[in-house]
Amino acid sequence: MSPNTSHPPPPIIQRKLVFVMVGLPARGKTHIAQKLGRYISWLGYESKVFNVGEYRRRQTGGGQSHEFFSGDNADGSAQRRQIAMAALDDLEVWFKLRGGVAIYDATNSTKERRKLVLDRCQSLGAHVVFIESICDDQDVIENNIRETKLRSPDYVGFDEEEAVRDFRARIAHYEKAYETIDENVLSFIKLINGGRRVVINNIDGYLPSRVVYFLMNIHTVPRPIWLLRHGESIDNVENRIGGDSELSPFGESFSKNLPGFFKSQHIPSDSCVLWTSTLKRSVQTAKFLDGKKIQWRLLNEIDAGACDGLRYEDMEHDMLEEYRARQAEKFVYRYPNGESYFDLVERLEPMIPELERVRRPLIIISHQAVSRVLYAYLMGKAKEVCPHLSIPLHTLIELRPTAYGYDESRHTLSSDTEGQP
Ligand code: SIN
Repeated sequence: MSPNTSHPPPPIIQRKLVFVMVGLPARGKTHIAQKLGRYISWLGYESKVFNVGEYRRRQTGGGQSHEFFSGDNADGSAQRRQIAMAALDDLEVWFKLRGGVAIYDATNSTKERRKLVLDRCQSLGAHVVFIESICDDQDVIENNIRETKLRSPDYVGFDEEEAVRDFRARIAHYEKAYETIDENVLSFIKLINGGRRVVINNIDGYLPSRVVYFLMNIHTVPRPIWLLRHGESIDNVENRIGGDSELSPFGESFSKNLPGFFKSQHIPSDSCVLWTSTLKRSVQTAKFLDGKKIQWRLLNEIDAGACDGLRYEDMEHDMLEEYRARQAEKFVYRYPNGESYFDLVERLEPMIPELERVRRPLIIISHQAVSRVLYAYLMGKAKEVCPHLSIPLHTLIELRPTAYGYDESRHTLSSDTEGQP
């Protein structure tokens, strides 16, 4: 039998899809759109976010004051409309070339504008799902302005209070014309006050339903995520694939060093949520840490099937065709009776809303392939690079949320032995 590198498609989407963001400025639309785009791409769909604010900055150089956004400014309104249409034109071209799932990130704050976007997307044969973010919590809005907007290229060189005043005035212009979605024929998801209340209307199909669940769980609490592999195991020392061996003495000393490390970072591990797989080497690595520990079978290492327990050199020697197929197409290569990286994405998918939901610092002690797949989700890495991402032993990857992604730092606790999976 020849090696299995058939490319399993992601779960069927019956129709082309466009998610259209709706909401006043500073309601977290771009945060939602970027996260959603990474999630959908990671699931294996072609996906692209079209952000109208970026088009404006590219076309005009950015830095417009609030007057540009006033409905009374005929010239500004004409320019804004032209820019929004330029993004839609690109969306149309992209759809024709690539198909898949587009996200149109703009205020789309009037019925007239939404009708226009809907008609354009429907003429492409796409189904449209509106995602409206509504927020009347002034503290959240204020925080959003200060945390994201002031760092926007629109306000480079501005005095902070002047920038806040200008942005508030920009919001006020949009508020004058804002119309919430109330047309029952439309498909929409309304996220009210950061998802404390969610209203859905006319949502069906696999992906839109997954997206509702995903959006119900995301939040903006700035908690870090720590990704790490278990400490070195006996199988690592012997260069064996898979298995369920114990930690080596070197791995054991790594696990003993972890509490001191988190203490040095001023992160009491008992304030964290700690996830491990159910395999011995992962559970043993968490042994000295306090905190709420949860074992997930979903986090177990890629199933190496018939190759489980082999050494890499045995696989190369005894199963050359399999070995070469894996080297050539590592993401889609499936071990005989085992899993591929793509299978891992499907296995880990139910964990993603859960990972998003946790509001405390989250420590995930898993395995090389699993860490690569989770890292690819969090950092928006393409499937081609995912199986080659560097996730060394005894290195903690710290991911701290920023406005639209994560800042990364790596901490190596001791010299490591690089495993191969
Ligand atoms: C922007 O130019 O920043 C947003 C444009 C819009 O969607 O109203």
